[in-house]
Amino acid sequence: MEFISKCTSDTISNAAQALIDGHLVAFPTETVYGLGADATNEKAVSSVYSVKGRPVGHPLIVHISSINKLDQWAINIPEYAIQLAREFWPGPMTLILPRTDLAKDYITGGQNNVGLRVPAQPVALALLNKFEQFGGQGIAAPSANRFGAVSPTTADAVVEELGDYFDSDDLVLDGGQCLVGIESTIIDCTGALAKILRPGAITEEMVEQVVDKKVVVTEGESEIKASGLLDSHYAPKAKISLNSIAEPGDGFLALSKFQTPVGAIRLASPGSLEQYARDLYSALRSADRQGLKKVAILAPEGAGLAEAIRDRLTKAATR
Ligand code: TXA
Ligand code: MG
Repeated sequence: MEFISKCTSDTISNAAQALIDGHLVAFPTETVYGLGADATNEKAVSSVYSVKGRPVGHPLIVHISSINKLDQWAINIPEYAIQLAREFWPGPMTLILPRTDLAKDYITGGQNNVGLRVPAQPVALALLNKFEQFGGQGIAAPSANRFGAVSPTTADAVVEELGDYFDSDDLVLDGGQCLVGIESTIIDCTGALAKILRPGAITEEMVEQVVDKKVVVTEGESEIKASGLLDSHYAPKAKISLNSIAEPGDGFLALSKFQTPVGAIRLASPGSLEQYARDLYSALRSADRQGLKKVAILAPEGAGLAEAIRDRLTKAATR
């Protein structure tokens, strides 16, 4: 595995070629780092599953360079999905749509729909554009962590998670820290109404404004398989204790307006919800690096991004 810290047009071109050749390329997006493979190469996609240790049958999100590529992967696209794509792409939103023949069972987990996203991160977009120039059609990329573990928001965290599992020809592109910090909002667009399967930075209110209709929000009981919808996910080794009092020696994470309890080890002090989302996973990683047994976390209150943060915290706290 080669670690590339300066993403020049040459290194991006090499990375795009590596994907075409069937190797894996971990790359930054605005949400979290993804573990990328050519979405039309079954062997490369199966390496993604083995590097992640992810059970087969969990579908992967296909990343494309722009809304113009949507028709290659999806058919019977409802008008509201087009509106969402126009409004929020490139951005932290994944749309689940009926698939074309290009989206094979090894991408969709055998389902008749496919998850698609145009990321808003310069390195990711440059990589996608180069890859498409070389004849590629989409990059399948789950979060670049071992199955069930905390998603990486820096290139170092990718290596920490997956370094032992990469092949020598695989690459990690370093594009700095992810600005959003939690995974994309997933919206099921296969029915008459938009259905949010995983909350994220594109909030229910934002979706509602665009689709001009009621939006359904599932609580992880969707009939569609989505591994982020499992009860336990995003979990560090340390035990997460939500909204309880931190004892001396415990890790502590809360908005900056909350004081650190005596003897607790502050992991982050976000001043806003945006910062909370951005800091969350690196704070959990830092707890594990310090060998902490327990982390007390005050979950943010309210709607919008706070809801998405609570979703991840609740899953991280479940075992
Ligand atoms: O922000 C993100 O979405 C990141 C970056 C790298 O784009 N990717 C990501 O991928 O979080 P992953 O695989 O860790 O989580 C994607 C979730 C999984 O729970 C998967 O099962 C679900 O999306 N998913 C993907 N395709 C789907 C489909 N066709 N139907 C239902 N769920 C799907
Ligand atoms: Mg994931």
